[in-house]
Amino acid sequence: MTDPISELRADRQRAGELADPHAGLCTLATVDEHGAPHVRTLVLRDLHDRLALFLNATSPKQRQLNSGQAAICVYLASLQRQYRLSCNIEPIAVQIVQDSWQMRPDAPKRMDWYYVQGRVQSSNVTDRQTLLGELDAMNLTTPLAAPPEAVGYWLNPHFVERLDLAQDNGVHDRVAWSLDDRRWTQTTLVP
Ligand SMILES: Cc1cc2nc3c(=O)[nH]c(=O)nc-3n(C[C@H](O)[C@H](O)[C@H](O)COP(=O)(O)O)c2cc1C
Repeated sequence: MTDPISELRADRQRAGELADPHAGLCTLATVDEHGAPHVRTLVLRDLHDRLALFLNATSPKQRQLNSGQAAICVYLASLQRQYRLSCNIEPIAVQIVQDSWQMRPDAPKRMDWYYVQGRVQSSNVTDRQTLLGELDAMNLTTPLAAPPEAVGYWLNPHFVERLDLAQDNGVHDRVAWSLDDRRWTQTTLVP
């Protein structure tokens, strides 16, 4: 039985080699407390052989992830393949987040502190000049460590679906995998 996460990993690797700009990305979908859906692009990390997301806990999506569930979509245009994953999520240990955070470029590091000391992520600010001025005025001790609000989540997929458009006869190939008792069961779906 094929393992869909290995398939996804191999396809992302292949897409990366083909310079697919989406090879490292996903679209994360969440639902807010009013039942309204939200989507946004995130970097989809492959860390310690697991899928992971990193974000700032001041952001609206953090509250939406408190449900413990998330869905992501990965479209690899270079391969004409779409993956959709339904996942339970699990917080990543602080030390792993800290180590990973150190590899971030300087600006995102400063932004993570700005969300804590300035304005929370996704809130309103008068204009970009105000934002840049406030960022500049922040007094940060070096070397910088990640604030506790820099968090990460492991994605534990329990349902994966792949749609493959690259079929000679034009009929798309669509398969799904469900995790049951730690074993994946594969089925074919009508595309
Ligand atoms: C290519 C790309 C990669 C991104 N990667 C991340 C990421 O890894 N983590 C993150 O929190 N936001 C990332 N963002 C920004 C999010 O899409 C989003 O604007 C931000 O997290 C605020 O989302 P929210 O208001 O839904 O909480 C990325 C955006 C783009 C375009």
